[in-house]
Amino acid sequence: MQTQFELTNLEKAFAGRLEPFTQEYYRVPTDLFISKVDLKMPALPGMAFFIPDASKGSVKMLRDYDQPYSALALTAFPEVLIRAEDISLLRQYAEQRILNSGAQPSLSIEKRMESLRRAALLTVEELFKDPSAENIHRSRKVVGSFVYLLMKEPQAYMVLARLSSHDPYTLQHSVGAGVNSIILGKKVGFKNESDLVDIGMAGLLHDIGKVGVKPEIINKPGPLDEFEWEEMRQHPEIGYKIIKDVPTLSGVTKMAILEHHEEKHMGGYPHRIPWDQVGLYSKIVAIADIFNALTTDRSYSQARNPFDALKLIKEKLFHKIDDFLFQELVRIYAGDLQGLMPMEDPIVPNKDQKKAA
Ligand SMILES: [Fe+2]
Ligand SMILES: [Fe+2]
Repeated sequence: MQTQFELTNLEKAFAGRLEPFTQEYYRVPTDLFISKVDLKMPALPGMAFFIPDASKGSVKMLRDYDQPYSALALTAFPEVLIRAEDISLLRQYAEQRILNSGAQPSLSIEKRMESLRRAALLTVEELFKDPSAENIHRSRKVVGSFVYLLMKEPQAYMVLARLSSHDPYTLQHSVGAGVNSIILGKKVGFKNESDLVDIGMAGLLHDIGKVGVKPEIINKPGPLDEFEWEEMRQHPEIGYKIIKDVPTLSGVTKMAILEHHEEKHMGGYPHRIPWDQVGLYSKIVAIADIFNALTTDRSYSQARNPFDALKLIKEKLFHKIDDFLFQELVRIYAGDLQGLMPMEDPIVPNKDQKKAA
């Protein structure tokens, strides 16, 4: 219980959803800095802490940003106040703790995956509100943590696949397609950490162009008419325009965002390019996209189980996808985890953060 409570608070801080105390101060639960389960938690962030001073109707400083103050001393208070301008520091701290919880074996895989998935959803939610280079960089760290956890413990994939949620479809779909892309990438032989993160980023961002499509079309419960389809089909190019100048994304990731609706017999969109010229990342994302859409609840159709989804792809959607990748996806669900076993040199989620700092 305690752990879940801490995670919820961490996620709130991570998403910048803390309650304001006044315009200048925010309330922060102290369990963000003290944990009963996470012994390797990072040191207190360099910010000042305050408590309300009821007698004066103002606040009293507990610790200035450069003063030593033990995390334990904070346990005397259920919550402290921080300055509004320190929110981004707290956010970095929460991010570090959430992403590190992936490497923390004291929590069950279920809890680690659920927290990571929720953190990813929050990041993606912001990404769809503001697809800035900074938000894209933040989501890269989350994808790095998925790669780390999924590669270290292959059974985590099944745990993740089982988790259900009522989050808006596109966000959930983006995270799901990102995870499916990583797994499939690993299965077909990508071993390198940065390649897998690039593949995961392509899956996570594949539908980012939907920010440029009218919400009435995105959320329409029934089938789209011809004009609506025409607008919907713009999303790969809109997405490409959004991300094309982001320096932290690789060229193949960018191409996957543009090409994820190209098809085997040149029947897709936007450019109907020959299949042998479509990038491998794009093909991985294309199949992860379809598979995730079929196995997730949507407003007009219920989630299928993996077996039914694979059967439907084989019977009705085979013209859209790569034969070999389909075979490998079937193998994953048939329990062939070869190629998904732990990596010799596991990824450290923090590595990217250190580089960036
Ligand atoms: Fe798409
Ligand atoms: Fe999609």
